[in-house]
Amino acid sequence: MPVKAVFPCLLCMLITSLATALHHINSYFLLSDTDTFLIMTSLPKEPPEDANKQSFWMPGNYVHTVHRTDQCFQACNDIVACLRERAKVEKQYAQQLSQWSSKWKSIVDSRPLYGSLMKAWQCFFTSTERLSELHSSISQSLITEDGERVKTWQKETFPKKIFCGFKESYDNKTSFSRAQKPWSKKLLKLEKAQAAYHKSCQKEQAALDKEKQANDNSEISPEKKQKIVEAREKATEEKVKAKERYESMLEDVTSYTPRYMEEMEAIFEQSQEEERKRISFLKQAFLSIHRHLDITNNESVKAVYSELHNTLMSISEQEDVKWWKNHHGPGMPTDWPKLEEWVPPVKKLKRKKKHQRGKESRPVMIGGVKVRALYDYTGEEGDELSFKAGEVFLKVEEEDDQGWCRGVLNGGKEGFYPANYVEVIE
Ligand SMILES: *[C@@H]1O[C@H](CO)[C@@H](O)[C@H](O)[C@H]1NC(C)=O
Ligand SMILES: *[C@@H]1O[C@H](CO)[C@@H](O)[C@H](O)[C@H]1NC(C)=O
Repeated sequence: MPVKAVFPCLLCMLITSLATALHHINSYFLLSDTDTFLIMTSLPKEPPEDANKQSFWMPGNYVHTVHRTDQCFQACNDIVACLRERAKVEKQYAQQLSQWSSKWKSIVDSRPLYGSLMKAWQCFFTSTERLSELHSSISQSLITEDGERVKTWQKETFPKKIFCGFKESYDNKTSFSRAQKPWSKKLLKLEKAQAAYHKSCQKEQAALDKEKQANDNSEISPEKKQKIVEAREKATEEKVKAKERYESMLEDVTSYTPRYMEEMEAIFEQSQEEERKRISFLKQAFLSIHRHLDITNNESVKAVYSELHNTLMSISEQEDVKWWKNHHGPGMPTDWPKLEEWVPPVKKLKRKKKHQRGKESRPVMIGGVKVRALYDYTGEEGDELSFKAGEVFLKVEEEDDQGWCRGVLNGGKEGFYPANYVEVIE
């Protein structure tokens, strides 16, 4: 008796494990489970009422094998749809991260916080920005790389025949059916012969019963008994003939079986080879999806979090309170009151005309001297500088006898200014 052939659906196993992995990663990021994927359920389980009926070897059952092609084609559609949806989740997550980060960044920036603690808090937002970019790029690669790859492969791998579905299904189905036909015919004949034999056994049994009853019954005439015996003998004869026919049919089937098996297996192996290629491709595709999703292994993610960690570790309460002391506390510099001399207002001084000044030669200083403005000054003529108190710039020429110097502002503008509006600094 042929043993039921069991072909595990590797594809289903692969898809299920992918779904589990994706689910795992989702949970890792505390995403809702409702968005997790259409998990491909395994093939419906038929009740094992008659295992032999479902055997590959029985007529017509090769269609399951032939159907694998269509199922894989369908699985590709599902994979692409599944990836698209996941890509959407990644994109939404990226957007939410980014929104969260910019909202809170501006709130935190407007708070009067300071020092290394403030810097560390802000670091959450810069790292989140980078994480958001990462999830956008995951979304992108799921669609443009993984999805496209599966789609392209699907197009190339499943050529169709007009009106006949997939070429492979059609070809293989035709081959299976051709290989099975002679054997099926023999099997049908065998079944008929078997039924006929069993029927003849039944008839003989009935005839035997009748004969026994007749023998036990003394009232039946010998002629009648003779007829009953003849009928029983005929039934036995027919049973023997039916058995012979049955045995010969069985022999016919049995002797054909090796050839049948060989042919079916050869075709089956071709189908297996195609399926092997498909599973192998999908394995690579799934691995690529994994590569894109597995952010725990991404150097740039590791860098984001290790930078964040470093920034947090460099929060220093000592430094921060010291900063506060120096900027808002007793550490602040103060000009304690002291006698201040009256300074004549300089603005009133008139500079000489340019042509007059041109004749004098003032010593030019190489590199200049750093000065800091003591008061605001607004240039009154085109060749004068304007600056605010506290601004630092360079004096490039010594004071003239009217009290004017030449200087260069930070921006590169050169001009004159009243010498006593500034002090020299180191
Ligand atoms: C890590 O993520 C970035 C996107 O932020 C991506 O460009 C890069 O290829 C990823 N690295 C690896 C090894 O997957
Ligand atoms: C089964 O289908 C494949 C793909 O179309 C084909 O290469 C192969 O020859 C077919 N095998 C048989 C026995 O028809």
